[in-house]
Amino acid sequence: MKIGTYYYPEQWPRQEWERDLDNMAALGLQVVHMGEFAWFTLEPQEGNFQLDWLSECVDKAAKRKLEVILCTPTAAPPIWLVEKHPDILPMDDAGRRKRFGGRRHYSPTSPAMQEASRRIVSALADRFGDHPAVVGWQVDNEYSSDFIDQNDHALAAFRNWLRERYTTIDALNKAWGCQFWNTYYTDFSQIMLPCSREVKYGNPHQVLDAARFWSWAFAQFNRVQTDVLKPKIGQRFITTNFMPFHPDVNPADMAGDFNFMAWDSYPCPGNEKAPGDQSYRLGDPAQMGFMHDYMASFHGRWGLMELQQGHVNWGDTPVHLYPGAVRLWLWTAVAHGAEFITTYRYRQPRFGVELFHDGLVGTDGTTPTVGGRQFQLSIDEIKRVKAAHLAGTTVPTVEEGAAVDAVGAAAVGTNPSHSAIGLVFDFEQLWEFSILPQAKRWDYARLIRLWYGAFARLGLSVRILRPGQEWPAELPVIVAPGLQMVGQTLVDQMTKYAATGGHLVLTCRTALMDRNGQLFEGPTAKPILPLIGGSIEAYDGLPDGATAQVEMDGKKYSWGVWGDLLYGEAETKTIARYADQFYAGAAAVIQNRYQGGLVTYCGVMGEESFTDALAERIAAQSKMNIVPLPPRVHMVRRGPYRILLNFTADTVDVPAPARTRFLVGTRKLEGAGVAVWREG
Ligand code: GAL
Repeated sequence: MKIGTYYYPEQWPRQEWERDLDNMAALGLQVVHMGEFAWFTLEPQEGNFQLDWLSECVDKAAKRKLEVILCTPTAAPPIWLVEKHPDILPMDDAGRRKRFGGRRHYSPTSPAMQEASRRIVSALADRFGDHPAVVGWQVDNEYSSDFIDQNDHALAAFRNWLRERYTTIDALNKAWGCQFWNTYYTDFSQIMLPCSREVKYGNPHQVLDAARFWSWAFAQFNRVQTDVLKPKIGQRFITTNFMPFHPDVNPADMAGDFNFMAWDSYPCPGNEKAPGDQSYRLGDPAQMGFMHDYMASFHGRWGLMELQQGHVNWGDTPVHLYPGAVRLWLWTAVAHGAEFITTYRYRQPRFGVELFHDGLVGTDGTTPTVGGRQFQLSIDEIKRVKAAHLAGTTVPTVEEGAAVDAVGAAAVGTNPSHSAIGLVFDFEQLWEFSILPQAKRWDYARLIRLWYGAFARLGLSVRILRPGQEWPAELPVIVAPGLQMVGQTLVDQMTKYAATGGHLVLTCRTALMDRNGQLFEGPTAKPILPLIGGSIEAYDGLPDGATAQVEMDGKKYSWGVWGDLLYGEAETKTIARYADQFYAGAAAVIQNRYQGGLVTYCGVMGEESFTDALAERIAAQSKMNIVPLPPRVHMVRRGPYRILLNFTADTVDVPAPARTRFLVGTRKLEGAGVAVWREG
């Protein structure tokens, strides 16, 4: 596990490079990113490649034993390219082209952009592909766009994509439900891209396909670069930095072209509503844990690319991070097995739109910031843990020099199944729920986080399962929240898992639609009714500010987002009931024995406390080895190691056996604290 940062040598005087790299090494950093956004400096005119400066900088980094992650600069196409090919600029629905002068001003469908990207990436790969200091490549930066491009290239690509998908226009008319308002097409050439992701009174099935197409378009563009890189970089990793739950790119569309996954984490940009305590200064542990495990679910190998370490420039409120927050986030990534953690950025800029963005050091390039000092202390601490482990060498199976790696790098899936549950996350549901939200307060990403957090709080490992993956029968519990669109494969997977002894947990808004986003003909959630052993008679959502009560095991919890009113068959058990409103007494959660297994259907999207209580009940019922912890306190198990992560401002008791010798922390763990110990 290595720690590092982003550096932009082209933004600073050449005579400062050596000093900056010296200081990075002195801070304990081991990895440095370079090249991101530097296209113009690397190629000031078309075909005139100026790579010597980068080469010099990479060599200087190597001299200081810093490993380099090279970034392709394609997120910032240079002025000459825009001037020569204005059609690389994406066009909005009013026909306005995005202007040069920032970044992400390109359409992934533009042939000129693809061609120019191929050239610059080839030049970089030829020069640095086998450089010993370069350990991996980051392609582009945070793939995304302000809007779906309406240029002719994008339109043509969309029509071709539709032709591939549907073959005939009749099939498309059917998939898009064009009998509704008689919006039939007679030829693919008539089809336009939707003006925006907001469906308004347009066609929701078309917007869903446009979302799929746009993600595919970025994946195609990405492949232009990975195809160039792969033959030239040996075994080095290739990845990009994804944003969490961002609608432009479904990571699964690109994962096949990468051998490594990575994401950017800004846990505390100051955009959240304050919860009434100090925890908003610490970010959401469920978001972090989930994203780490989600990235790991693709190739086992993952990294944290941009980790916040201070103020950002783009948040609503410049919240000062809780003391220890950065250390807590670093340890969280270590606990989940990150191969490296890097932070944006080394040095605070004096110019540009991000000039209020903190760096590890200030604008002078030498004075560590609060975040910089936390990085330094954490790196030292991680090294100390490594040394302590080596001195103890109690576990012969741990490779030399790898205590922290042993804590962190055990690949996902190696945890014993008695402490792991499965959580199904299907990115496409994110699109569909935002196209037709039906309830303003509904939030699929939040639903996923609620369930993730509820199990992580019990000290259980959560294995993220994606569509198309096998569902391991040995997982005692699989939770599949909000799978609104289902195909036969998914229904078969659910059925098989439950029939063969698993405990399947489903929630409201499951199996209402097929994968085109069309409702099934028949009763609500028809495909899963045999599984849940009941029916959904009605549903209720409460307006902003209103809450209602649901009762489980004699305790009341509030809810407000969504409530299915359930009817369970004779053999089906009712686990929770609505406790007020005119339908008080109606079932809210039911449980059905299905052949060899169990199916729990949670019809209510409640607050954290309700999901926590239900998850605990489910895990206990499935005889899992749980360690109930306060909300926002997670325990990660890695081989013999336990890592407790306290995302609260309160002191918590660490559930370690008596006489445990802690590698990090103590039995009474302060707010934002981290404890690491061994068991067994
Ligand atoms: C990220 C982006 C970086 C930088 C950073 C600022 O989203 O990838 O390049 O802009 O935000 O917080």
